[in-house]
Amino acid sequence: MMGCTMFTAYLQRTFGFLFRYGYALASSVYLFTLGLAKNRNRILIGSIASHFGYVRIRTKLPKVSLSSLTAEETAIQVREAIGSDGNVTLLELIAIVKLVQKHSPRRLMELGTFDGRTTLNLAANSPPDAEVFTLDLPQADLHNAQLPLAAWDKHYIKKDVSGARYQGADCAGKIIQLFGDSATFDFSPYLQTVDFVFIDASHAYEYVLSDSRAALKMLRRGDGSGTKVILWHDYGEWEGVTRALDELARREPDFQELQHIEKTSLACLIVEAKTP
Ligand SMILES: C[S@@+](CC[C@H](N)C(=O)[O-])C[C@H]1O[C@@H](n2cnc3c(N)ncnc32)[C@H](O)[C@@H]1O
Repeated sequence: MMGCTMFTAYLQRTFGFLFRYGYALASSVYLFTLGLAKNRNRILIGSIASHFGYVRIRTKLPKVSLSSLTAEETAIQVREAIGSDGNVTLLELIAIVKLVQKHSPRRLMELGTFDGRTTLNLAANSPPDAEVFTLDLPQADLHNAQLPLAAWDKHYIKKDVSGARYQGADCAGKIIQLFGDSATFDFSPYLQTVDFVFIDASHAYEYVLSDSRAALKMLRRGDGSGTKVILWHDYGEWEGVTRALDELARREPDFQELQHIEKTSLACLIVEAKTP
């Protein structure tokens, strides 16, 4: 009787596996043919290639673990955990908000709002009196950008609303939505006043150089107000971002300490506090 039950269980497992195998095989035929038309399928093909060791873009920044930058016991809030194409991954979101919780920035600046998922999480994890500024290029200005955009940037610029995910949230009052092109935006009201910058606007090489230099000028330094942080998204994922950051680290002393957070596409520059 016992042997019969075990045999039935064995058959169920075997047929279960064969069914999944056939389903996956048929889906793969679709994925690599008609499925190519869908962006999410192209992303999946990229993940499969990476799984089997394909490296599209070589990175040069030194690697740093998230646990060496933040404490394990840091409590965080995660809002809108399920991301969509254009958002950071869940691990990246956790890394970003852990750094926010650790450094308690009072003024935060995000370049590239998109649907506002990261903006919302910056607001939820910063001190109650913090201000979160987030700049986005309106769809109407797509063809007036000062510098050449990366081809795929347009995909994220074309949307009806910037920051849809933070609308109506309890912490939305901390968020100040700004509109403009990061290459021509007047950052003068923010110079030397910002504690935390997240750069995730255009992924084109020249934009990343320009946004990085603007971010550095915005940092409040030398007044004893604590450690400052600049984070970039898509290092190692987009050629323009990767080349710009590798070059900045190599050529410009202010960016020499750039690091790549392991298992993410986040690059970071931690500027330690100096006493005034
Ligand atoms: C990849 S999405 C940002 C994702 C968002 N930071 C997140 O974490 O979910 C890029 C955003 O940058 C904006 N953008 C692209 N080029 C820009 C520019 N030159 N100036 C300002 N924003 C720009 C786009 O409109 C888009 O909303």
